[in-house]
Amino acid sequence: MIEVATVASLRDEVRALRARRARVAFVPTMGNLHEGHLSLVAEARRRADAVVASLYVNPLQFGPNEDYATYPRTPDADRAALAGAGADLLFMPGDDVMYPRGPEIMTKVEVPVVSEILCGWFRPGHFRGVATVVNRLLNLVHPDIALFGKKDYQQLLVIRLMVADLGLPIEIAGVDTVREADGLAMSSRNRYLTAGERAAAPRLYAALTALRDRVASGAATAPAEAEAIEALAAAGFRVEYVSVRRQRDLAPPERGDTALVALAAAWLGRTRLIDNIEFSRA
Ligand code: PAJ
Repeated sequence: MIEVATVASLRDEVRALRARRARVAFVPTMGNLHEGHLSLVAEARRRADAVVASLYVNPLQFGPNEDYATYPRTPDADRAALAGAGADLLFMPGDDVMYPRGPEIMTKVEVPVVSEILCGWFRPGHFRGVATVVNRLLNLVHPDIALFGKKDYQQLLVIRLMVADLGLPIEIAGVDTVREADGLAMSSRNRYLTAGERAAAPRLYAALTALRDRVASGAATAPAEAEAIEALAAAGFRVEYVSVRRQRDLAPPERGDTALVALAAAWLGRTRLIDNIEFSRA
């Protein structure tokens, strides 16, 4: 695996990959990699001839009171994991390379409506930061396909809409969530959990599973959501939202909408967890 940190060397190396092989896939990450991230690299390998990964903890997508300073940074382990998973090229830019004019005054990408609901409501500016950094990364790498986890369901939709709106000639692929044996979605933030919180954490997935089962078998969404919120509060979570939405735009489902997703965000102590499950109702 080749590692680069500048735009010029990234462009040279991507050009070299393209000269040798046809299709280039891209997997952006913020590092502290786990099996979830590595499943994106594995899927990228299956769907393309060369795999480019990036590792950059993006300050623009963290709020002023969020965990930017303490976000786990493990570049040596990440480098080894990416090489082992079959990445060909790693782009690890510094802040000066990602935001040469400074993050505040660089051009921003705004995807209205979908950025303002659910996680966006509780994290103002978050999806603008995500869209801005992903757009810049896509423009620097110029992949044929970029892969994102369904774990961050709303992020995936924001990126799909951005790519469509900006007319970027890039396929966006969503990859299924990788979970621990007890159901907890893998996340770099799980390492913040105390032992007691870690034991309670799988209840988030359990609550979403129960919510899915009820709505899939015909229950109204509002009481089923309320029941999930109650169960999570009883397990010690501070719930931000639990909501059944339609997959295509994350709007509240209307009669006749069948492709749905149950999403939740909740805090355990100082750790914010998110999860979701796609399902269909008749
Ligand atoms: P990060 O949280 O590092 O995640 C990188 C990619 O891994 C995202 O596409 C995310 O959805 C995916 N991922 C995380 N946990 C996963 C799991 N358990 N199963 C499957 N995929 C999982 O998401 C970001 O970074 C950033 O917002 C980024 C897109 C890199 C922009 O800064």
